[in-house]
Amino acid sequence: MTGLLDLGGEDFRSDPHAVLRKAREADWWAETSLGAAVLRFDEVQAVLSSWSLRTEANAALSGLDGTEHQRVRRSAGRAFTARRVEEFRSETGFLADELVDRLGSSVDFVADFARPFAVGALCRFVGVPEELCEAATSEESGDEVVGDLLDLRRRTPVNDLLSSLVDQSLTEAELRSLVNTLLVSGARTVQHQLSAAVAAFLEFPRQWELLGEDSSLAGAAAEEVVRFSPSMLLGTPRIAKEDIVLNGVTLPAGSRVLPVTASANRDAAVFAAPDRLDITVPRTAHLTFGGGIHYCLGAGLARVELQEVLPRLARAWPGMRANGDVEWSSPTDAVYGPTALPISLG
Ligand code: HEM
Repeated sequence: MTGLLDLGGEDFRSDPHAVLRKAREADWWAETSLGAAVLRFDEVQAVLSSWSLRTEANAALSGLDGTEHQRVRRSAGRAFTARRVEEFRSETGFLADELVDRLGSSVDFVADFARPFAVGALCRFVGVPEELCEAATSEESGDEVVGDLLDLRRRTPVNDLLSSLVDQSLTEAELRSLVNTLLVSGARTVQHQLSAAVAAFLEFPRQWELLGEDSSLAGAAAEEVVRFSPSMLLGTPRIAKEDIVLNGVTLPAGSRVLPVTASANRDAAVFAAPDRLDITVPRTAHLTFGGGIHYCLGAGLARVELQEVLPRLARAWPGMRANGDVEWSSPTDAVYGPTALPISLG
């Protein structure tokens, strides 16, 4: 019989990676209160790309399936292009420099840098006017502000993501839901990912030094922090559309399956010394951005933001050190990361 993984326990809250390691070493999956947690790389990858599983149904892009998902995703992709992301790179750098210049010598990285950066960058990328930015990206961001934004861009289209989205053949409900997802998840994920990255570098100061000395490590650093300390731990749950057999285990139709990407990313069968942050070794591609049809739409943007910000900070703050305890959100939250990260900039 397979093991039980207690996602509500204090052990998981205080050190989720240690609990996942133990469970992963014991078996490729474990029962949890949220469904069957799949823990090893190959099996997580298989779950993410299986046609026999779907995400939980809801109106957001991530909750759609089949041709409905294909249609909305295609429209979103026509606006959210790789070219638009690449053209945004230099603006990301300016925004980071602007924020760095304003900071004193002791800061809470989350409140003073990660949150304003993530929110500011997303609003600029999407095309949200500054005065609406805070309201549009707050977790309670209502339909009203999204409606106002769409009306604004219908009246006055410019060369931004919103104007391009209103031009796509989406229903009003699909459009509102998509913009709402982009605004809320696009800011929170990056905020938590940047903070998780800085917390990881505090544990591995030599890696921070290396990044500060050599900006060509930016791409590898972005991938490695996203592997090592992802801002989503449990992955997006999947539901079995029919009875499925995974590694000889039958999961009946309707079973809930958690592709635990944070665990897959530290599978020692795939990653050498997986519990070490090392930006100098080539690694297999991690699974933090998911896989299959739901692969993160914003992965390119998140990568550009991390690639531009992290080397800048490593150059600006070579003597960065911890200045108090790091507080983390709950590892079962959809987005995971530090909620307070006091640092002294040296
Ligand atoms: C480091 C930051 C980020 C992480 C770790 C992350 C992670 C993820 C994950 C795990 C999924 C689900 C993949 C799956 O279930 O297979 C996802 C989907 C999605 N992400 Fe991200 N994400 C990040 C940043 C962003 C940004 C910046 C945006 C937009 C501005 C964004 C927009 C989306 C959308 C719209 C989906 C749904 C895609 C679909 O269902 O087709 N994400 N993301």
